[in-house]
This record gives sequence, C-alpha cells and structure tokens, in this order.
Amino acid sequence: MTKTDFIAALPKAELHLHIEGSLEPELLVELADRNNVTLPYASVDDVRAAYQFGNLQDFLDIYYQGMSVLLTQQDFYDLTMAYMVRSAADNVKHVEIFFDPQGHTSRGVSFDAVITGISAALSDGGKTYGISSRLILSFLRHLSQDDAFATLTRAEPYLDKLVGVGLDSSELGHPPAKFERVFARAGEMGLKLCAHAGEEGPPDYVRQALDILKIDRLDHGNRAMEDTQLVDRLIDMNMTLTVCPLSNLMLAVIPSMTASPVKTMLERGLAVTINSDDPAYFGGYMNANFNAVAAALDLSFEQLATLAGNGFRGSFLPESEIVAHLAAIDGIVRP
Ligand code: HPA
Ligand code: ZN
Repeated sequence: MTKTDFIAALPKAELHLHIEGSLEPELLVELADRNNVTLPYASVDDVRAAYQFGNLQDFLDIYYQGMSVLLTQQDFYDLTMAYMVRSAADNVKHVEIFFDPQGHTSRGVSFDAVITGISAALSDGGKTYGISSRLILSFLRHLSQDDAFATLTRAEPYLDKLVGVGLDSSELGHPPAKFERVFARAGEMGLKLCAHAGEEGPPDYVRQALDILKIDRLDHGNRAMEDTQLVDRLIDMNMTLTVCPLSNLMLAVIPSMTASPVKTMLERGLAVTINSDDPAYFGGYMNANFNAVAAALDLSFEQLATLAGNGFRGSFLPESEIVAHLAAIDGIVRP
C-alpha cells in the first residue's frame, strides 16, 4: 500500500477547523449572489488569486471579508454541510469544529441563525456520512474580554450544542491572559477550554494558556518547541497539540514543509495531531495535510497511524468511542 492510500484508509478525527475557513470560493460567490453582497472579485479565479498571505493578519483580513456573505441560517447550514461532504471524502470520522460568532453578530446576524444552521448540518451530515461532531465557540482575541463575556452570555441558551470554547484571531498583542476571567467562567459552565497559542506568539503565550486559561487542548503550539522545559511539561501533562501543516506553510509560520515540527514533536513524545484549520484558504483538507507532512518529513506508516490515533485520543469523545476508533485504526495497520 502506498502512503497516500494508507492515509486515505485511516479513520481520522479533525480537532482544529474553523467552519468559516471551509468556505470554498465557489460557495462564496454563490452566497454573495444569493444575498446581494458585493465582493471585490470578478470571478472564482479572482478569489483564489487573492489567497496569498505573508502572515496571519493578511489571512484574517481576507477571512473576515469572506464571512460577509454568510447571512442566513441556511447559509451556515450549506457551509457546514459542504464541510461534512469533504470530511466524508477524506474518511474523517469525527470533527470538533470552531465557529466565530462575533464575526457574525457584529454584522447583525443573529447568534441563533449561526448556531442553529451549523448544528443542524452537523447533525444531518453526521447521520448521512457516519461522522460524529462537537462544536466549539471561539472568542476573537482582538476584541475585548467584555465582548467575549457578552458572547458567552448569548450562548447560554445553547449550551447543549457546545462542547467548549476557543480563542482565535490575531495572536500577537493579544495574549491569553487577556481572557482569564471569561475562560474561568466557561470552565465553571462545564465547557472544555481550547486556545490558539504559539502560532505566531512566543512560548510565553503557550505558558499563559496552560497556567492562566487552564486549557484542555492547545491549538497550533508550534513555538512551544523553542522552549525545552515547556516541551517537557506538555509531554508530562499529555497535552494534545492541534498542528495545521498547510496553514503553517501558507501563513509563513514555517518556511517550507520540511520545516514542519510534526516529526520532531512525534519523536519527542508530544501528543501531536494533524488538522486543516481553514482548508478553503490553505489548499487542502485532512488527507492533503497528512500527505503534505508524510512526503516532506518521510513519516513512517507507524507515525501516520500514531497521528490519526492522537486525533481520537485528544478529542472530547467519551472513552468508549475513542477505544472503538483506535481499534478501527489498528484494523488498518494490521489487517
Ligand atoms: N489562527 C488564528 N485565528 C484564526 C485562524 C488561525 O489559524 N484561522 C481562523 N482564525
Ligand atoms: Zn486555527
């Protein structure tokens, strides 16, 4: 079996995916037409040509502009269903996805339309394709902690639809400590805690995410590798890192795919996982991300199976379901 066939055959879990970042140019243009939103692009090709980023902020500017076509519950349903179709094609069996409600409520879209549309597609798509799912409300870190609190309050009637909270958007200048109180409150509400840290921010931001936000899962975490003691701590606490290889390359977090930290993380014993982040913007879904690192780092079949297993081990699924998925991976490794 080739590595590509092996990757395709592995059951996978995606733990780091921004649903708004799965908005493909074709659907972007379709929704712009449907909703009479004017875009600064003449064609789908024009949209794709604009996707060149020197850093995270370059990307975020285009990502927020893309979101402007999402207005109705049906739009959020269609967006999410398209992602479920892509996940099924990549043999992804479980997804834990972020959404950015502040990117929508700030434009006058109701919180209800956003969460109801996304949740309905996760449920319908899950049944059709045999994919389990969880939803994570992500706070925009360039906004204030008060704004995050207001968003958490809006989410209270929908707590049964949420597994956790996250922290995304512009990292530099917006350290985890800024959100200490709202994360404490989310934890009291029984929500799991995730935060992007160490994508562009320094290792100290990862420490703050651990010590001040008390996260259950670390999104990206690349720059933790600069601090040996921090790496030892992440290993000791068995912290899952959701690394996003194509995102890292496209946002110049790494200069080339051969510089991806994934192999070193595996060799050090970190619980690293592979994810697609914003696949419509970064050029590929789960299998493309696995294939990119497998080729550039010459990962072994065993390392690929470990990465897939880490996805389920690091998920917020009940233990019995994790065990079943790991057994299915074993069935691929030792048929
Ligand atoms: N980093 C920070 N914020 C984001 C990202 C990311 O990779 N994708 C969408 N929002
Ligand atoms: Zn992300």
